[in-house]
Amino acid sequence: MTRTEAKKAISAGRVTVNGEAMKTGSLHVNEDTVALDGQPVCYRRFFYIMLHKPAGYVCANRDSRSKTVFDLLPADYQKKDLFVCGRLDKDTTGLVLITNNGELAHRLLAPKKDVFKEYLVTLRDKVSEEDIQLLEKGILLRDGLHCKPAFFEPMASNYGLLRISEGKFHQIKRMFAALGNEVTALHRRSIHGLTLDPALPEGKCRYLTDQEIISLESVE
Ligand code: URA
Repeated sequence: MTRTEAKKAISAGRVTVNGEAMKTGSLHVNEDTVALDGQPVCYRRFFYIMLHKPAGYVCANRDSRSKTVFDLLPADYQKKDLFVCGRLDKDTTGLVLITNNGELAHRLLAPKKDVFKEYLVTLRDKVSEEDIQLLEKGILLRDGLHCKPAFFEPMASNYGLLRISEGKFHQIKRMFAALGNEVTALHRRSIHGLTLDPALPEGKCRYLTDQEIISLESVE
């Protein structure tokens, strides 16, 4: 049902909240029991979308020059107030979470919460044992900013899984630049235990399952 149809049904007295006819055109109800023509309806206040971002799209609601991740959402996913929770660079691929739950996004992104994200990182040069130790101690960026400890698990000499709990602008590229290396490909695999669905092709999205939402909500 569209918003307009819902408003018409409310005006016609067909919608009840906790058994009482809904009086105004307001669509803002919280945890109440909503029914249409006496039948309970599933009411969703928040939306959580997992997108497999391809390279070449920016994580913004609008952009005058580039395609945005919202261009990838099918029409029935295009809801008001959606935003990207934790942006990726234009050339980065992988997991993007899109939601309208600002409070959850705040918790996931707040630096003091230490929410870990995992990235598969490909580098121009090999990553040494000393680099790994420096990452664990916390890298000092070229502009003087200090990063929190980051954990790199090598999977090849110039490729591995990096776990970080921050999201500064171009953070991973800047961390490896400070080590004299260069990121040549970057892919986000997970955010706080929410892992990119391997069955989701690049450019496609799906809603999170209830279990995935519960797991994200577990951030204190
Ligand atoms: N760090 C970066 O440098 N780029 C991203 O897109 C994400 C993390």
